[in-house]
Parts: sequence; C-alpha cells; structure tokens
Amino acid sequence: MNLGSIEITFCGHATFALKTEAGKQWMIDPWLEQNPACPTRLKNPQKVDTLLITHPHFDHIGDALRLANKHDATAIGIYETVAWLQKKGVKKIVGFNKGGTIEHEGIKVTMTHAVHSCGIADGDDILYGGEAAGYVVTFENGLRLYHAGDTAVFSDMKLIGELYHPDVVCLPIGDHYTMDPAQGALAVRMLGSKVVIPMHYGTFPALSGTPERLRALTQDIAGLQIIDLKPGETLARELERLVPA
Ligand code: NI
Ligand code: MN
Repeated sequence: MNLGSIEITFCGHATFALKTEAGKQWMIDPWLEQNPACPTRLKNPQKVDTLLITHPHFDHIGDALRLANKHDATAIGIYETVAWLQKKGVKKIVGFNKGGTIEHEGIKVTMTHAVHSCGIADGDDILYGGEAAGYVVTFENGLRLYHAGDTAVFSDMKLIGELYHPDVVCLPIGDHYTMDPAQGALAVRMLGSKVVIPMHYGTFPALSGTPERLRALTQDIAGLQIIDLKPGETLARELERLVPA
C-alpha cells in the first residue's frame, strides 16, 4: 500500500480529513463543532476544498453548511441531499448516484450502497434525502479508500471488494445505528482489505462496539491490521509506527 503524501486523519465518529497528493483538503462527513469525539484543534480547519457526504444525519453533515460557506467548498453526495444543501446556500455541489463515479480535483469517487435511512432533519420536518451511501475514493496514485458510511452489513460488500479492492476501509462498528463488530468481521472478510479503520463507535454510550471485539473476531485473517485511530491521529504516521519501512 502506497500512501505517498496522502494523509487520512480521523476527526472522531465518522469524520475523516483527507489530504490528497495535490494538497487538496477533503472531508468525509463533516461533524466537528458538536462532535464530542473531535479534538478542539480540529474543529476549525484552515482549509477545506471538498466535502463528501454519505447521508444527511446530523452526525454526518453537522458542519457541512458552515464549512461550505466559510471555505467555498464543494459538497459532493447523492442528488437529493446535495440539492437540499444547495437550497440552504451551498454554492458548489456535485450530485450523483449509486454505481456512478465522478472525478473531482483529480480524485475519483464512486458511490456505493449502504443499508441505512436518509432523512434530513429540517426544522420540525424530516425531508427526503435520497438514500444513504458509502464511497470508494481513488487517490491520484491509485490508493483506494472505502468509507462505508452508516450501514448494516450487506452481502454486496463482496462486490465492492471484487470491483475496487480497497486498500483501506473505514467501517462503522458501534451497533445501535449501524453494524456491530460481528457484522463488521463479516464485512472485513467480504471486502478483503488488509487495513481497517473502525469508526462510529464510542461517541455515545449506545455505540458500544469496540475495535478489540472486531480484532478478536478477525484474528484468523492473515496480515489484517485493525487500526483504531484515535481522534486526531493520521493513518500514515500510525502505519509507519506499526510497520516500519
Ligand atoms: Ni446515520
Ligand atoms: Mn451516524
């Protein structure tokens, strides 16, 4: 796996900051200010070029409007969700749908399925937001990251593995709103990736799944690394620490 100058930083919960080889700053599922897992120093990023949104629940778009407006960032997501963001004032959007691949700032993004709901809380209403999704992000050097979004396990994860062979996978394991570690272990087997970053656990008491449990259920998989990044940690540095070059 070649990270090159790519940085994948865990901001807590399901939020990841990505630095591309060209130095663009992307954020998946921006939830910073009210995110109890997000370190203070990450709550106000210096620069944000692009926001990638899996679905519009508050813990995934809480800071989307703020960051898009402040940084003139592009919001990418499923058609109905980004159309809502546009209605709320986001100037630059890219709406697409499952199975599709778009290219933006030299990065390819493929939208995948996710088994989860997708309502948008807007005042007292819950609006139709399309469908919850996941993303396969292919960086300039070919490195592939699969961020599953919020989802239960589903057997088509095998297709995502077959089609895209993701190098790094971010999987929710907290239970209650998403899959638990037992489903996560099945997902790891179907995806075939050797580097797995658990997410969407521990933020609230209900999210009780743990990386230790996922590790225990996958210990027979040769070469697998479950890397439980702490909020604020960056994958490149952790891999260097774990696997000295
Ligand atoms: Ni959700
Ligand atoms: Mn969530």
